Amino acid sequence: MRVAAEAERLRRNGEDVVDFGAGEPDFPTPDNIKQAGIRAIESNFTRYTAAGGALDLRQAVCERHAADFGTDYGPQNCVISVGGKHVVFNTIQALVDPGDEVVIPTPYWVTFKDVVNYAGGRCVFAPTDEQNGFQLTAAALEPWLSNRTKVVIVNSPCNPSGAVIDPEEYERILHLVVRRGAYLLSDECYCHFVYGGSPYSIAAAAGMKDRIVVAGSVSKTYAMTGWRIGFALGPAPLIDAMAKLQSHSTSNPTSVAQKAALEAVRGPQDSVSAMLAEYRRRRDFVVSRLRRIPGVTCAEPKGAFYAYPNVSAALRPGGVENTMQFAERLLGRERVAVVPGEAFGTESHIRISYAASMQELERGLDRIDKFVTSLIR
Ligand SMILES: Cc1ncc(COP(=O)(O)O)c(C=O)c1O
Repeated sequence: MRVAAEAERLRRNGEDVVDFGAGEPDFPTPDNIKQAGIRAIESNFTRYTAAGGALDLRQAVCERHAADFGTDYGPQNCVISVGGKHVVFNTIQALVDPGDEVVIPTPYWVTFKDVVNYAGGRCVFAPTDEQNGFQLTAAALEPWLSNRTKVVIVNSPCNPSGAVIDPEEYERILHLVVRRGAYLLSDECYCHFVYGGSPYSIAAAAGMKDRIVVAGSVSKTYAMTGWRIGFALGPAPLIDAMAKLQSHSTSNPTSVAQKAALEAVRGPQDSVSAMLAEYRRRRDFVVSRLRRIPGVTCAEPKGAFYAYPNVSAALRPGGVENTMQFAERLLGRERVAVVPGEAFGTESHIRISYAASMQELERGLDRIDKFVTSLIR
């Protein structure tokens, strides 16, 4: 937040800032989806809907999930919320009591930790191996589970590392979690953006659906971050509890945004593959450009739209000591905004969002190269 605020201040002063901080698509919402939102307003679809989301949208989300991943959820297994973030919040508030442990692999999306803390739970961090591209494995997870574990949160593709867990390994993780009597919260908000293999949902695994909660969202898949629509898929009693919690807090997500989301999941899907192709091109450029910077290493992201390079070679006592200082000085000197890895629970990395044009990526990476080279010399 500090880096973002400073970037905004510089921009307001007319400075030329390259922004790799934003965690959202740079594409506009596809036209068919925007038109559905406009039609919803014009036809006065502007009243309350069911607190857990309109039935047609819940049905359509289940159908989309079935078509994409071969699952068999029905509307009783689905609640529509105000973004995937709201789904994560509701799931943890519904499941976690004070003192319960929630296992979170590192690096992690920042919200997981704070949401668990808010519920009075205890975060247990399970480090992943950079040499293995930060991919979580059952073997790496096992030592962190205990009889107090209530939930394990897995985010594949991962923000910030771009790691994707392969389906067989993910099933081993699921078995481990269920054997411990815990729940698996599978954050699949980036599930359509994978660069090798096909999109995959752990909910397609045989059995054990009563222990899985999928957090999904239209935000990234359809470039709809501002519309604020996400969904949970899970066991009906838990979905009921989450809908109840929601009915006394936000109530239904915005009615017209629900209509736009209905078009997103029911309408043509070609915008998704077009965005994926463009992200892949950018990913290839960013990773190869980063690897040409002296001292910088970068695990290849297999999904999402983030690179998570290791910049430890540029850190030293008395100089730039940590990634927070790295991000602040990079912005101060070269006018490039990135997110320091400390925010995601690791010490040697920065997060670069490549949801930016090729021209911006080229400009920003030239500046990062210049900055790192000056620190290493
Ligand atoms: C891992 C992850 N999960 C969930 C979300 C939530 O997105 P939204 O609330 O816009 O659906 C984000 C957004 O950055 C994310 O990175």
